[in-house]
Amino acid sequence: MSLPLRPLRLLLLGAPGAGKGTQTSKLLKHFTGLTPISSGDLLRKEIQTKSEIGNYAQDIIAKGQLLPDSLISGLVINELNNRNLLNKNSSWLLDGFPRTLPQAKILNEDLVSKASDLNLVVELKVPERVILERIENRWVHVPSGRIYNLQYNPPKQQGVDDVTGEPLSKRPDDNAEVFQKRLNAYNETVDPLKSYYKDLGVLHSVEGETSDIIFPKLLDFIQNKFN
Ligand code: AP5
Ligand code: MG
Repeated sequence: MSLPLRPLRLLLLGAPGAGKGTQTSKLLKHFTGLTPISSGDLLRKEIQTKSEIGNYAQDIIAKGQLLPDSLISGLVINELNNRNLLNKNSSWLLDGFPRTLPQAKILNEDLVSKASDLNLVVELKVPERVILERIENRWVHVPSGRIYNLQYNPPKQQGVDDVTGEPLSKRPDDNAEVFQKRLNAYNETVDPLKSYYKDLGVLHSVEGETSDIIFPKLLDFIQNKFN
């Protein structure tokens, strides 16, 4: 395990089910000192604790729609702040945020003022047919955000989180109808986002159907660029 020499401030972009959460867990095994923040996991925790934001977000997420830009930006930037990550020396990884151009601009304003702007954006490109197959087999442990897949990385004991022994659940937004809406939302918002990061010179992509293909590419890429 090693920490990248240069602070890494990474955004993983990718369609729902592309494997952002999965690649995040794999990266954490290689890089100590990299703090992950997933907007979806933050929201699911808010829902679980029945907070005001959670109650508001629950229906929107269940319908496969996006939350208002200002709300989700506030939530994630607040988390970055609370964890003391808004400085030029910290390394962190964002999963699921920003996912619209206005969100990217809000975040960038905050980061640039603290000399901690994103220095790498990687899009995970996975064919849609592969994604649809995966989602049916996904189970999650909400408190930790740990992800299992019945075919690809099953829990040691069926229906139970490996670390805590707590029950796993299906995400309510993982049924075929809602999932298609989430895919559509991604496809509608991603192009301006990619153009924005391309113009900033930080956009890259890795392509493949399985982690055996995607993960080594991602790891190589980060190690070459940041070591
Ligand atoms: P969020 O939780 O961010 O969901 P998402 O972007 O739709 O992405 P997923 O978490 O579904 O997929 P993933 O890419 O992490 O894939 P995973 O690794 O699990 O957001 C949920 C909702 O919150 C949104 O719909 C929206 O309402 C709201 N929201 C969140 N952020 C927002 C924002 N910024 N603005 C507005 N609203 C926001 O992998 C999927 C499955 O595939 C797993 O079963 C996994 O085990 C398996 N798998 C992964 N990789 C592989 C592989 N290589 N080979 C085989 N199986 C694999
Ligand atoms: Mg995820």
